[in-house]
Amino acid sequence: MNTFLRVSRSMLCRPGNFASLSTTSGCQESEPRQYIPRRAVLYVPGNDDRKLQKIPSLSADCIVLDCEDGVALSKKQEARSKIRHVLESQEIDFSGKDCSVRVNSVESGLCEEDLREVLSASHLPDTLHLPKVDSPQHLDWFADHLKSLLGSHKPVEPLRLVIFTESATSLLELPAICHRGRELSTNAPFVLDAVVFGSDDFCADIGATRTNEARELLYARQYVVTVAKAFKLQAIDLVYIDYKDLDGLKVQSEEGAGMGFTGKQVIHPGQISVVQTAFSPRPEKVEWARGLIQAFEEHQQQGKGAFTYRGHMIDMPLLLQARNILQMDAVTSK
Ligand code: COA
Ligand code: MG
Repeated sequence: MNTFLRVSRSMLCRPGNFASLSTTSGCQESEPRQYIPRRAVLYVPGNDDRKLQKIPSLSADCIVLDCEDGVALSKKQEARSKIRHVLESQEIDFSGKDCSVRVNSVESGLCEEDLREVLSASHLPDTLHLPKVDSPQHLDWFADHLKSLLGSHKPVEPLRLVIFTESATSLLELPAICHRGRELSTNAPFVLDAVVFGSDDFCADIGATRTNEARELLYARQYVVTVAKAFKLQAIDLVYIDYKDLDGLKVQSEEGAGMGFTGKQVIHPGQISVVQTAFSPRPEKVEWARGLIQAFEEHQQQGKGAFTYRGHMIDMPLLLQARNILQMDAVTSK
């Protein structure tokens, strides 16, 4: 067999040109690619059968089968082989979800073995999550190993890559990392799609005290969004670890969406719908955007440039924002 099948990709195909959506990957901007919404990104520990069996009943946009920090060191091999079995057997239905695997970091010394096992399955995941990317060289290592482990077994479409920034060094290097990821995306077997902010490791690294309000992370969050968007990547916000506090989760999710994040990491099924609602355009926003675009087209036909819509002067950034809202609504409301 020369090509790998995908666990769920075909279910995610959606029509439309998302080149102008500010959250699409920027590796080949002239070629619009299918946009994979990742509003709620759920970790499922790869060694936990009970949680793995829950997947078909969960509505998260992206399921991350975890080999990294959700799995104890003594259970790594068990997690790898269970994940390989999940992919290979197709017993668990991922329809409509982005199926991903989080391998261990390049520096952990565990990543190669994770990749070897995961890539030996005849059905590949859609996406790989690579944690603790601290330098562009980590991506070079990853691309080389991915290429050689895949060998002639090329995926039909490149794997999507989601990278984590979770240290002070990584944050300082983030533009160079994204730049390298974008270069590699043109001929490596992956396409860089998103940046995740790993806040707990980041707090530990800089010596910050973690709070539910996350004021200590404001600068880092804004920086991550800014860099990700500069490279036209999705930006995934921090985990709200107090998973029983749904009111606090709602506040933080809305805050993250308002800052420009496109999604949020979740650790418990109870968090999914709160996060998805916060990261979906509200109906009144969609209605506003439809009206604005219609008014813009009418004014264009009359040869008028600037105009007023519902009391506000409309300029190009607002028009682009309105288009983004409609495109995001089109992919998330199906
Ligand atoms: N994925 C799939 N199912 C999950 C789940 C997850 N991440 N978290 C909980 N569930 C399931 C439980 O198995 C349980 O199902 P059951 O009643 O059939 O057994 C149900 O949802 C309710 O779970 P609950 O009893 O409230 O929580 P718990 O004590 O089983 O688990 C955590 C709590 C935090 C340990 C668990 O949510 C978890 O492991 N989350 C992932 C943590 C992680 O990966 N961290 C690293 C990334 S930051
Ligand atoms: Mg982490």
